[in-house]
Amino acid sequence: MRKEGDFKGIDPVFFTTSQAGQAGPDIGKEIPVLQDGFDIDILQGMDIVLTCQGSDYTKKVHPKLRDTGWKGVWIDAASALRMADTSIIVLDPVNRQVIDKGFDAGIRDFIGGNCTVSLMLMALGGLFDAGQVEWITSMTYQAASGAGAKNMKELVSQMGAINDAAQPILDGPVAAVDTAVVETMRGAAFPTDNFGAPLAGSLIPWIDVPMENGQTREEWKGVAETNKILENETPIPIDGTCVRIGTMRCHSQAITVKLKDDLDVAEVERLIASANDWVKVVPNTKEETLKDLTPTAVTGTLTVPVGRIRKLNLGPGYITLFTVGDQLLWGAAEPVRRMLNIAVE
Ligand code: HSE
Repeated sequence: MRKEGDFKGIDPVFFTTSQAGQAGPDIGKEIPVLQDGFDIDILQGMDIVLTCQGSDYTKKVHPKLRDTGWKGVWIDAASALRMADTSIIVLDPVNRQVIDKGFDAGIRDFIGGNCTVSLMLMALGGLFDAGQVEWITSMTYQAASGAGAKNMKELVSQMGAINDAAQPILDGPVAAVDTAVVETMRGAAFPTDNFGAPLAGSLIPWIDVPMENGQTREEWKGVAETNKILENETPIPIDGTCVRIGTMRCHSQAITVKLKDDLDVAEVERLIASANDWVKVVPNTKEETLKDLTPTAVTGTLTVPVGRIRKLNLGPGYITLFTVGDQLLWGAAEPVRRMLNIAVE
């Protein structure tokens, strides 16, 4: 927000759940000390409340604030209010019209979407806009950041533990290295308090809690949130398997799309590239893929590359592609930051 100059047009008051009375962050202008985030009287005085605190905070504070008759704009990134009829899920490069229409109709709760959903829509907005999507299946490769800050640190600790075990014997036979690595990963001392299993050198094909139909909640969000963001009267079927992998903060997705028409690859690329300023088509070559279509290349940027685009040999209208996006930017902070600017307009 500092970098984008978001504080220029507003008088921000910072709230905290643990450090009330202490100095706030340096935003280049005078601000009051940190206020108590549970103080409904003070919150009531705000035109807009933007919180990234999570669902527990939203559940505790939002109803109390609305019960006072507060008509301000509530913006958060938690799942608690996402599917409520009184909320709009915000991703303005994709659904600005839905946001504007909701605002005019009196909606005042604007909620950032699930990260895989937002990143998928940033990547495939052009195909949805063109009405070309019959159904989608998405296999995800989700970063540690989606599970939280502690998990990011745990991933690094796991990498370190593996290196500690293997480094002294790396000049020796690979079978011994392999054994040392797996024994370390299976050992009681391997740090897994947050993930519940080794992630570095492995993967975890389960994200969030179970639903009754065998999906995880992360998988359910794909269909529920996408159709809500796009305000689809007839829901587009979307399903797949969500997998945690050992990247720090970029989610990737391998996606199969069943198109309504048997478009050629050039037309698919044209539609994808024309959707917004951040999506970027990566030519389907090894060189370009290794350069631009990896979490390492994308981390810390707003670019959403889409590559490996080709027709599947399953029949007419089946295409596959691969996309990567920064989970902490388009997957979390950016839609919410942009919604604040829309609300200030
Ligand atoms: N639920 C996501 C994940 C992150 O665990 O990766 C938030 O959208």
